[in-house]
Amino acid sequence: MTKIRIKSRSEIEAMRRSGKAASTILQRIGEAVKPGVSTYELDQISRQTIKELGGISSFLGYQFPGHAPYPATICVSLNDQIVHGIPSKEVLLDGGDIVGIDTAIFLDGYHGDNAFTFPVGAIAPDARKLLDVTRVSLYRAIEAARPGNRLGDVCFALQNGAESYGFSPVRDFSGHGIGRKLHEEPQIPTYGDAGRGVRLMSGMVLAIEAMVNVGNSEARVLDDGWTAVTTDRSLSALFEHTVVILSDGPEILTDNNKLWGHKSKKEEILEDDNR
Ligand code: MF3
Ligand code: CO
Repeated sequence: MTKIRIKSRSEIEAMRRSGKAASTILQRIGEAVKPGVSTYELDQISRQTIKELGGISSFLGYQFPGHAPYPATICVSLNDQIVHGIPSKEVLLDGGDIVGIDTAIFLDGYHGDNAFTFPVGAIAPDARKLLDVTRVSLYRAIEAARPGNRLGDVCFALQNGAESYGFSPVRDFSGHGIGRKLHEEPQIPTYGDAGRGVRLMSGMVLAIEAMVNVGNSEARVLDDGWTAVTTDRSLSALFEHTVVILSDGPEILTDNNKLWGHKSKKEEILEDDNR
C-alpha cells in the first residue's frame, strides 16, 4: 500500500514558500539562457540564488540507490537528453537548442521542485511544438489533480497529452510526492489508466513531471552514470510543477508569471489545444 502523507495547513503554508523559492531560482536561470552560456554558469546562478533565499539545494549530494551523489544543484538536459544532465564548463548553449532545467530547494524543512524547458534563441517548429505539447500535458495533468479523482487520472493526462500528438511519454522516470523529503509517495508515472490508482485527497502535495520524447519512449543512461538520452536521438522536453491538492482543486506552488505566463494565457493554450 502506498502511504501518501497528507500535509497540514501550516505545512502547506511552508511549502508555498519553498515552492515560490524554487520558481524564483528557475526564473533567474531562464533569464540567463542564451547562446554561448555554459551549463556550469547556469548551475552557479542556481547556487547563488539558493544561498540568497536561505535554503539548501535538494539535488546536490542527492543519492539515488546505486548512484554516486549528484554533483550539482540543477539538472540540465539539452536536446536529445531527457533528464539528469550534469552541468559542465565545456557545454555551451547554442542557438536552436532546447534546454531542460530542473532545480529544487530545501527551505525551512520542505522541498520545492520545478523544471522548465527553454528555447535557446530561435528554434525549429518541431521543437516549438514539443515544448507546447509537453507544457500543455503538464497543465492537463495538474487539472486532474483534485479530490475524488484518482492518481491514474493524472498519469493518463500526461500520457494522452503526449500521444495525441504522436509523441511518447518517457516511461523510465516519474514525478513524485514531495514534502520533508524530495521523493515521497506516490510515484507519478507519465502513463496510466484513468480511474485507476489511489484516490487523491486534499493535503497531498505532488511534484508532477511531464517528460515527452518526439520519437520513441526509450531512454539510455550515458557513461557519466546520470545523463539519460533518447535512443533514437529525438528531442525530449520536461516541465514540472509542485502542486498541492486542495478541496476546490489544485494550487500550483511553483507558479511564476514571469516564467510560465499568466493564468489567462495558460487557458488560451488549453483551449487552442482542445480543437
Ligand atoms: N526533479 C528530478 C527528480 O525529482 C531531479 C532529481 S535529480 C537529483 O527526480 F539531483 F536529485 F538527483
Ligand atoms: Co522532481
